[in-house]
Amino acid sequence: MTEAGSSEAPRRIGVPRERLAGERRVAATPETVQRLRGLGFDVSVETDAGAAAGFGDEDYRAAGAAIIPDARHLWGEADIVLKVQPPGEFTDLGAHEADLLRPGAVVISFLWPAKHEALISRMAARGTTALAVDQIPRITRAQKMDALSTMANIAGYRSVIEAASFYGRFFTGQMTAAGRVPPAKVLVIGAGVAGLAAIGAARGLGAIVRAFDTRSAVKEQVKSMGAEFLEVTMEESGEGAGGYGKTMSPEFIRAEMELFAAQAREVDIIITTALIPDRPAPILITEEMVRSMKKGSVIVDLAAENGGNCALTIPNTVVDRHGVHIIGYVDLPSRLAPTASLLYGSNLVHLLEDMGGNAKFKIDLENAVVRNALVVHNGEVTWPPPKAPAPPPPKVAAPPPVATAPPKPAEKSPVLAGLAGLLGAAALLALGFVAPPSFLSHLTVFALACIVGWQVVWNVTPALHTPLMSVTNAISGIIVIGGMLQLRGEGNAASWLGAAAILLSTINIAGGFLVTHRMLRMFRR
Ligand code: NAI
Repeated sequence: MTEAGSSEAPRRIGVPRERLAGERRVAATPETVQRLRGLGFDVSVETDAGAAAGFGDEDYRAAGAAIIPDARHLWGEADIVLKVQPPGEFTDLGAHEADLLRPGAVVISFLWPAKHEALISRMAARGTTALAVDQIPRITRAQKMDALSTMANIAGYRSVIEAASFYGRFFTGQMTAAGRVPPAKVLVIGAGVAGLAAIGAARGLGAIVRAFDTRSAVKEQVKSMGAEFLEVTMEESGEGAGGYGKTMSPEFIRAEMELFAAQAREVDIIITTALIPDRPAPILITEEMVRSMKKGSVIVDLAAENGGNCALTIPNTVVDRHGVHIIGYVDLPSRLAPTASLLYGSNLVHLLEDMGGNAKFKIDLENAVVRNALVVHNGEVTWPPPKAPAPPPPKVAAPPPVATAPPKPAEKSPVLAGLAGLLGAAALLALGFVAPPSFLSHLTVFALACIVGWQVVWNVTPALHTPLMSVTNAISGIIVIGGMLQLRGEGNAASWLGAAAILLSTINIAGGFLVTHRMLRMFRR
C-alpha cells in the first residue's frame, strides 16, 4: 500500500467481529463509521460485528459501511484493519487473523507487544504494519487517541456499578420513616484514571469516599471531586515518568498498608487500582485485612490482570472470602460495550486523522504518537521504540564570583532627572495655555488610567487570567460605546480614531467569546 496520494481509490478500512470469548466491544460504531467516511476512507464491517455492543448491521449500512458476511474476504481486501483485541487464531475462521492480512496492510488494535512476541514476529513475517494503541504515549497531544485511559475511565466507573450489585445496601444515606440508613463508605486505592472515575461514580451514588495515592499531585483532584484524601506520615514522592506512579520503598508500602488495615475495619467497599506500568501490581490488601472487614463488604480489584492488589483476588472471578465479595473481573470495559466501543472508535478516528486521513495517510516516524505505537513497519519489527532523549541535566549553579564587585546599576544624575521633570511640567503648562480647557482634564484622566490599568494587569496572578479576560471584555464594551459617540461621519481624526477603537474592541470581544466557548467545551460532559 502506498503511503500518500489522493488520486487513487480511497483506502478500505475493515472492521471484523471480535472473536475472543467474552469480548463484546467492536472497533467502530455506526457513528465512528460516518466519521471515518468523513476522513475519506471506505469502510467494510463484518456481519454482526457490533451485535454484542448493540449496533445492528442496518445501522452500519445506514452510516455508509459495506456489510461483509465473509470474514476472510473482509481481512483480505482491507488496507487498514481496526480491531479491539490482538489478532488471534479461531476455528471458525480456520486461520490465524494475522495470516489473513494482505502484505503491506495495517492493523490497529490493542497488541501488548511485551506479552505477544510470537504474534509480532508473525505479523512481521507477513510483511504487514501494526500499531498498538496500548503503546500510545500519555502526552497532552495524544489524549484524544489514548485508548488505555478511555478504557481505564470506563473500568473505574463500572467497578462501582459491580460493587453496588454485590453490596446489599444503599450507597447514599437515607432517613426514612422506617429508620435511618447510613451512607456506604468507599476507599479507592490509586487515584489514576480508573481511580478518579471510581471516585466520581461512587460520589454520584452518594457514598462517602476516601482515596489514597502515592502521587501527591492527585490530592487536589481527589478533593475537588468531593472525596477525602488520605495521607501517611512518611514523606516519599510517588511521581514516576509520564504521569504514572513509581515503585515505592518497602517502608512506604508498610506505612500505607497500616493505613489500609485501619480503613478496612471501617469501610464497606474497597476499589483498588494501584499499578506501576510493566510491573506486577503490589499486594496492598492482605487476607488479614479482608477478615477484618464487615460481612457483606465488597472489594473490586482492578489490578487483577496484573496479579491483583488484594492477596485473595482470582482474576476474572468473583469469590466470597470471610463474608467479603472480591471481584477480579478483567473485562470491565467490555461490560459497558456500547460506550466502550463508541469511545474506542473515536480514539481510532482521532489516530487516523492524526495520520493524515485517507488523502495524506502516512506512517510518519517523526510523529511521536505513531512512532511509539508502531510495533511492525512493513515487515520490520520496530518495537520497542527508541528512547526519547533524556532531559538535559539540571544546571549546576555557578559559584558566586569572589573578587569582582557586583555591577552597580547605572546611576541617574539627580540634576538630569530634575531637569527632565521641569521640562515636562513646562510643556504641560504651555499646553494648558494653548489647548482647549477640557484637554488637560482628559489628559490627566488618561495618564491616571494608564498607571492604574498597568498596575492592575501586571499584578494579576496567571490563575486569575480568565476573570481578567471578562473584565477586559467589559472594558472593550465601554470603548465601543465611546467609539460610537465619536463617529459623526465628519471624517476628521476623532471619527477615524473612534472607528479604530470600535474595530479593535470588537476583535477583543469576539476573541473573548471564542476562548470562553473553548474552555467551556473542555468542562462539558
Ligand atoms: P494509572 O497508572 O493511571 O493509575 C494507577 C495509580 O495507582 C497511579 O495514580 C499510581 O500513582 C497509583 N499507585 C501506584 N502504586 C501505588 C501504591 N503502592 N499505593 C497507592 N497508589 C499507587 O492506571 P489506570 O489507567 O488508572 O489503571 C488503573 C488499573 O486499572 C490498572 O491496574 C489497569 O490495568 C486496570 N484496568 C483494569 C481494567 C479491568 O477490566 N479490570 C480495565 C482497565 C484498566
